[in-house]
Amino acid sequence: MASSFQKGFLWGGATAANQCEGGYLEGNKGLTTVDVIPVGKDRFPVMTGEMKTLICDDDHYYPSHEAIDMYHHYKEDIALFAEMGFKCFRLSISWSRIFPNGDDLEPNEEGLKFYDDIFDECLKYDIEPLVTIVHFDVPIHLVETIGAWKNRKMIDYYVRYCETIFNRYKNKVKYWLTFNEINMLLHLPFIGAGLVFAKDENKETIKYQAAHYQLVASAKVTKIAHEINPQFKIGCMLAAGNTYANTCNPKDVWKSMGKDRESYFFIDVQSRGEYPNYAKKMMQNNGIVLQIEDGDEEVLKNNTVDFISFSYYSSRLTSADAKIGAQTEGNVFATLKNPYLKASEWGWQIDPLGLRITMNSIYDRYQKPLFIVENGLGAVDTPDKNGYVEDDYRIDYLRQHIKAMEDAVNEDGVELMGYTPWGCIDLVSASTGEMKKRYGFIYVDKDNDGKGTLARSRKKSFYWYKNVIGSNGEEL
Ligand code: BG6
Repeated sequence: MASSFQKGFLWGGATAANQCEGGYLEGNKGLTTVDVIPVGKDRFPVMTGEMKTLICDDDHYYPSHEAIDMYHHYKEDIALFAEMGFKCFRLSISWSRIFPNGDDLEPNEEGLKFYDDIFDECLKYDIEPLVTIVHFDVPIHLVETIGAWKNRKMIDYYVRYCETIFNRYKNKVKYWLTFNEINMLLHLPFIGAGLVFAKDENKETIKYQAAHYQLVASAKVTKIAHEINPQFKIGCMLAAGNTYANTCNPKDVWKSMGKDRESYFFIDVQSRGEYPNYAKKMMQNNGIVLQIEDGDEEVLKNNTVDFISFSYYSSRLTSADAKIGAQTEGNVFATLKNPYLKASEWGWQIDPLGLRITMNSIYDRYQKPLFIVENGLGAVDTPDKNGYVEDDYRIDYLRQHIKAMEDAVNEDGVELMGYTPWGCIDLVSASTGEMKKRYGFIYVDKDNDGKGTLARSRKKSFYWYKNVIGSNGEEL
């Protein structure tokens, strides 16, 4: 039987700079928002912008400072990706390696050189880099001086950063994502946009204004990217997962539609080029008045994305009745417990068919090629003395999701460019800062307190995924 996946399907894995690189002040890198987010009870208040800490102190532990030290291990790590047969490696560029303060007039050569080396290493093995331009980071100097994405000046700094990396890497990188999980801005505003709120500020207005600036910035650089290299493919990135209604009560169905629109709002603008009417009405009804300058709407209209990328870990569930059900965790989006689904150790509900449903919803809505750039199971692994982990639970999760993805392609005709499961090598968790929440095919010897040799070893899933890629998804 022929494979469901097209020739050249981009199998691979995904990471983000702050969760794996470490070397947080090496090579002239500047301090960035993610560097000041500690582990422990202060983590959530900092991530939501409720608690202001723009420096690091000795009382907290900051896992991004060393992470898994990919800064010094990238050759070894990319060689392991190549051994698995990766066709694609999704990584992010750390903004403050390139512009340490964000408003510097000239880029930092050491930072540029670091990513040159990474891309060269990938290309040596015919691995296509897929670059996230901003994965939850803003140079801290821009938070201090202009309030980060509260301020329109951010568009210019972001454009300068993008022009620099587009020109520098125009012959090495073809696929770019402008903002990781752009809808995360509404849920974790410090992570998503470097926003810190004062007591009397109108948070909703600030968040939607910041969203407007990011959307304009994204469209502007899409234009510039296509001018610099017409072969470039620019994608948006959504934290996806359809919201189900708790019952067939139309009130529940209506509520679930509203929840999905909160997220689709961003992609509606990036893919269709204009603010959807439901969003305009929502803002009107909530007294949110956006500062939109002449020319913004035209930029949005004329520079839509080439493809839609998204992360998918779980579906969500909601009810119109506020009293119903206990809340459970789910990638920051609060969701009810779905009695038909099992959950991970962190309460993220496992729903492979939900991936097929989500892919169909997104494809129906935008009719553009999709790219699944995150998916996976965060779990506690127990290695033997050689660092080998029998992670059948991970294999099982991925197998079911790849099968669902195959059905969406084969049975439903969804166009899919590639699949890069999250944390292909163990790395620091974004939501909790833990190391023990592992996603990787490659085990890294490091624990929650930062102890360990950083040695890398292959898990059972490493060999399994290698065979999946080798058979282009035929052997699961
Ligand atoms: C996505 C992010 O939200 O989920 C990643 O883009 C993150 O940065 C991933 O790591 C998994 O979440 P967590 O909290 O398990 O690391």
